[in-house]
Amino acid sequence: MTIIVTGGAGFIGSNFIFHMLKEHPEDRIICLDKLTYAGNLSTLKGVMDLPNFRFVKMDICDREAVYGLFEEEHPDVVVNFAAESHVDRSIANPEIFLETNIIGTAVLMDACRKYGIERYHQVSTDEVYGDLPLDRPDLFFTEKTPLHTSSPYSSSKASADLLVGAYHRTYGLPVTISRCSNNYGPYQFPEKLIPLMIANALADKPLPVYGDGKNVRDWLYVEDHCKAIDLILQHGRAGEVYNIGGHNEMGNIDIVKLICKALGKPESLITYVQDRKGHDRRYAIDPAKIHGELGWLPETKFADGIKKTIEWYLTHKDWWEEIVSGEYQTYYEKMYGGKM
Ligand code: NAD
Ligand code: TYD
Repeated sequence: MTIIVTGGAGFIGSNFIFHMLKEHPEDRIICLDKLTYAGNLSTLKGVMDLPNFRFVKMDICDREAVYGLFEEEHPDVVVNFAAESHVDRSIANPEIFLETNIIGTAVLMDACRKYGIERYHQVSTDEVYGDLPLDRPDLFFTEKTPLHTSSPYSSSKASADLLVGAYHRTYGLPVTISRCSNNYGPYQFPEKLIPLMIANALADKPLPVYGDGKNVRDWLYVEDHCKAIDLILQHGRAGEVYNIGGHNEMGNIDIVKLICKALGKPESLITYVQDRKGHDRRYAIDPAKIHGELGWLPETKFADGIKKTIEWYLTHKDWWEEIVSGEYQTYYEKMYGGKM
């Protein structure tokens, strides 16, 4: 099988490529990535020379280029990870989110229609469901929960999901959608909560916690997400949505304190800053469907996953120090300068 993985130079896409090359060495993987600020070619250096791997620098919105690649490679499967993925950036500048996350998805699916495909898989997010109240721990997102978005990021992802559903119904495109909770693990860009706090703590810099720090996310180790997508590709039903999450809800402040403890850093580094606009209070996935239909269950417990993740950032300083020394500095000043 030939599989196009878009956004494969980013966090989850790269982990998915490693998973697929290991578990399905008979498949050919083509990584299509624009290499935005979030894409890092050095992440893929270990697989770059494999005979069944190809990297193509390309924008999913570039219709002509995407059609050209489909014409050349005749992929059997497309897994779309490519996206602008950071909520704070979407609040500062929504437009690129609409372009990449909505138009890009449509271009990919048009290519699938034109050249034929066995499966188009859309990697979506639990953020399309909006948020849940903190005082109702009995409530969870199911696949039937209405879409109800808060940020330009989540709205762009929800729009893409609606388009994917429409391409299935209107054109019969064999699609699946997965909506996963927050991921953590190796190669996550240091603008996101966990790697940002690890990097700042190691540099003895303030740890910026938004609002009261009580917002809850449902954390999943990235490998478990990759395994779930692999299962959906193999056994998931076309036209279906699958929620992915491991019943691992944690308050932001508890995660930051845990990171301080693990790194031997004082909690006095924690700095409460101005809250994110429209900040979602709580995310929590009900994974009953993917468990019941496909037998998926998360394998990595949070205590083990966070240990592995911290260890990875400690032993791969070259990977993230290069990132935080470049354009990221300007971003950080702009994003946090006025808040602290
Ligand atoms: P990321 O920001 O780390 O990586 C995104 C990748 O997409 C980068 O390599 C970037 O260069 C590439 N890209 C961006 N625009 C592109 C374009 N126009 N054409 C081609 N490539 C482009 O993101 P991530 O955290 O790995 O997330 C991957 C996907 O998973 C996204 O669709 C995101 O919405 C979804 N998701 C993420 C999480 C999470 O916790 N990180 C949770 C659920 C779902
Ligand atoms: P993030 O990693 O941006 O993921 P998402 O917003 O997609 O869930 O943020 C996770 C949580 O951490 C979210 O509630 C916002 C909060 N947060 C902070 O408190 N400080 C920070 O510097 C960042 C980046 C996030």
